[in-house]
Amino acid sequence: MAQHPIILGIETSCDETAAAIVSADKRVLAHALWSQVDAHAVYGGVVPEIAARAHVDHLDHLIRQALSQADMQLCDMDAIAATAGPGLIGGVMVGVVTAKAMALGAGKPFIAVNHLEGHALSPRLTADIAFPYLLLLVSGGHCQLLVVKGVGRYHRLGSTIDDAAGEAFDKTAKLLGLGYPGGPAIELAARSGDPKRFSLPRPLTNKPGCNFSFSGLKTAVRRAAEALESEQGGVHDRDLCDLAASTQAAIGDCLINRTKHAIAQYLEDYAPKAPALVVAGGVAANETLRQRLTGLAQDHGLAFYAPPLWLCTDNGAMIAWAGMERFQIGQSDPLDSPARPRWPLDETAPPLYGHGQKGAKA
Ligand code: KG4
Ligand code: ZN
Repeated sequence: MAQHPIILGIETSCDETAAAIVSADKRVLAHALWSQVDAHAVYGGVVPEIAARAHVDHLDHLIRQALSQADMQLCDMDAIAATAGPGLIGGVMVGVVTAKAMALGAGKPFIAVNHLEGHALSPRLTADIAFPYLLLLVSGGHCQLLVVKGVGRYHRLGSTIDDAAGEAFDKTAKLLGLGYPGGPAIELAARSGDPKRFSLPRPLTNKPGCNFSFSGLKTAVRRAAEALESEQGGVHDRDLCDLAASTQAAIGDCLINRTKHAIAQYLEDYAPKAPALVVAGGVAANETLRQRLTGLAQDHGLAFYAPPLWLCTDNGAMIAWAGMERFQIGQSDPLDSPARPRWPLDETAPPLYGHGQKGAKA
């Protein structure tokens, strides 16, 4: 029986150091991850310099751990993939240089993965989802609606004009003293809060198109907290939960409204045979959002997919899988390909050369 290709994936673009090994038949053979959250929590956000140093400290042993979990050696890999951007450049360089060195030493192809493509294709690791699908990509640094037409083929329908959805969660949580990362903290506090108590803005929701805006939210929450201070002398636990629930509802309403517009455009432009709505990125871990998107998809006759929670936030398996999708269509990258702090997904560059697999495309 033919052996399925196997790829090692490395992720170092933000505050998670991760290495994972996946096979072409969608088995996650190893998954090792070091979250730097504790190192950054005291600052209320990611400190790039601390992140880059921590990747240097942890990446090597995570790669060893992944190989040992899979009971494999470097020579068993068919390619080495790493996030080459977008992200904090110090961290991206650590992953890219490590992957290139391993690829060179082992004589294997190197695959430079766009981190956003990692999120975008991650749902296909755990479910069979046909192209084209509509993707709501919501993370700490990005908030976009895209039609995923194929590997490396993306049509952006809209994106945020200021903050990303995860950033809105993080900034609001910091303001309320709920901790970092903000998304899980707000979600937890919101469970016992009243989402209707505070009337927070939902920018752009009555406008056509699929763009997002979240920057006004933090200011509105700050004003509400200041009003409580002057009216009752402080923000009590009950208020915090209500503010968290109201924030989550406002962000959710914006995401749902914009996605509704995108569904109409996706159905009209693509008339897909198997219409599907997919959510990916760290904010996709939010249970309330997952439920609301499930309902929205049902209302419009779309299937709905969300990756398991561990695959929503940054991890190595999504990078290994995106590498696999590219490897399977004959793509790899030269060892002088750059680390890119900015790299829009709809500008995913065609490979400079293929590694000669059947079906290789320029
Ligand atoms: O994809 P990710 O791990 O890193 C980036 O590529 O940015 O996303 C991290 C973001 C953070 O802003 C975090 O607050 C948010 O995802 N997040 C959540 C939840 N879990 C993580 N937001 C809302 N609800 C959650 N449960
Ligand atoms: Zn991410």
